[in-house]
Amino acid sequence: MIHVRVMKAKNPEEMGKLAADQFEAMIQTKPACVIGLATGSTPLPLYRELIKREQEGKIDFSRVRSANLDEYKGLGPDHPQSYRKFMQENLFDHISIKPENTIVPDGLAEDVQQMCAAYEQKIEEWGGVDLQLLGIGHDGHIGFNEPEDYFPGMTHEVQLTEMTIDANKRFFDSVDDVPRAAFTMGIGTIMAAKKIVMVVTGADKKEILHKTFWGPVDPQVPASILQFHQDVTLICDEAAYPL
Ligand code: PGA
Repeated sequence: MIHVRVMKAKNPEEMGKLAADQFEAMIQTKPACVIGLATGSTPLPLYRELIKREQEGKIDFSRVRSANLDEYKGLGPDHPQSYRKFMQENLFDHISIKPENTIVPDGLAEDVQQMCAAYEQKIEEWGGVDLQLLGIGHDGHIGFNEPEDYFPGMTHEVQLTEMTIDANKRFFDSVDDVPRAAFTMGIGTIMAAKKIVMVVTGADKKEILHKTFWGPVDPQVPASILQFHQDVTLICDEAAYPL
């Protein structure tokens, strides 16, 4: 059964270009589309390519809306490790997207339930996500949906696993500075996207990638739910290529 389109890139730069092609096609054909965005190291070549393509006049972000997957609990927009800051520095500050058209869960929300419900509602008001970008964690997380006994539906608070805290400590002064909790779109939010593009690089992701698309669908491997999605493109470099 073929349930995912796989595109192999020679290296992360080529992966960025292949992923940028998907975003370019979406934005050209639907200028006010809604894109779902991700943080982490893997999307960086894609973001550099998108900035370049707008400068070259190939893409126009001025009507695009964007919703990010997740944010650390307790980090405000100006915190250097917040995902809002990451998005500003690596993409939004360099393209014509309007600030009011970019949403990231509010890491400082006091009423968590209200913030999560409002996040879902905003995406719905926009007409849903047209193209969702995903990375994958070594434990199979997408967004910050960690291995669980069930697939969580909507945007919610999560406790991060030790594996994720360990993987993300490279961005912080010490492991103790890594937040223990986060807010993330749910698996249901992600699955509602019309199209999904997953980007993966590096030999350390090969095994989890194989489990995700060629193993059983299991909430202990959250990304494995993507086998149920009708339109997933996996773009990976040769090192991560799972076959
Ligand atoms: P990475 O993060 O791109 O920095 O490896 C991916 C993820 O944790 O989802």
